[in-house]
Amino acid sequence: MTELRILRRKNAEDKPYWQSFSYTTDDPNAAVSTALTELNARTDLRDMGGEKAEPIQWECSCLQKKCGACAMVINGRPRLACDSKLAELGEKVTIEPLRKFPVVADLMVDRKAMFDTLQRLKVWAEEGVTISEGSQDDAFEAAGCLQCGCCLEVCPNFYVGGKFAGMAGGLPLARLIAQLDDSSKKEVLKAYRKGVYAGCGKSLACRDICPAGLDIESLMVNSNRAAAWKTLLKFRK
Ligand code: SF4
Ligand code: SF4
Ligand code: FES
Repeated sequence: MTELRILRRKNAEDKPYWQSFSYTTDDPNAAVSTALTELNARTDLRDMGGEKAEPIQWECSCLQKKCGACAMVINGRPRLACDSKLAELGEKVTIEPLRKFPVVADLMVDRKAMFDTLQRLKVWAEEGVTISEGSQDDAFEAAGCLQCGCCLEVCPNFYVGGKFAGMAGGLPLARLIAQLDDSSKKEVLKAYRKGVYAGCGKSLACRDICPAGLDIESLMVNSNRAAAWKTLLKFRK
């Protein structure tokens, strides 16, 4: 039996409270998402104290570690619910919403700030791109970013309303830096310098937390070289 201890609130204004549910399964692959789905399917959902409970509000889409929608804090660490096997989490599992974003209800957060940042940084190519052989690997790796926001949760320098984009903005820019030719990426490099390079403490906490396992360190090094070091060297000449 697993105890799922969930931090709940009906809406953004509601005071948060903990509520525990018991969940039992024989499936060794059952994930936190499996348990949440099953709890919500119960016609008479009750907590461990026997109190009637409302369905747990959370978000998911792919259930295959592809969309990033189910990011939440599980046992104190930001993770994807669909990629968090109960068998590996112990008998008591704490589940909280991501803490850097405003909570909508229960485990649902409003990640608008992250998507607004992508708009602010203009993370798109104005015209078609032809990827050169040398940059294919970086572009492919950076394209694996799920926009889940787990990296922002552990980043000491990111906060909603700040100028620093964190790696959720840094990787889409890294993708463009790898893809575009020198003549068309001036604005992208500028956006990276201002929105990512200038605010990043290079602690790499984001690298260790990324549920997609992206090679953040290498993408960051390559983007820093293109966006910042090259510019500094140019000014020195
Ligand atoms: S870099 Fe990793 S942790 Fe950050 S948003 Fe992308 S996939 Fe999620
Ligand atoms: S290296 Fe550190 S400061 Fe930079 S994005 Fe990652 S966690 Fe944030
Ligand atoms: S539901 Fe898509 S990553 Fe978990």
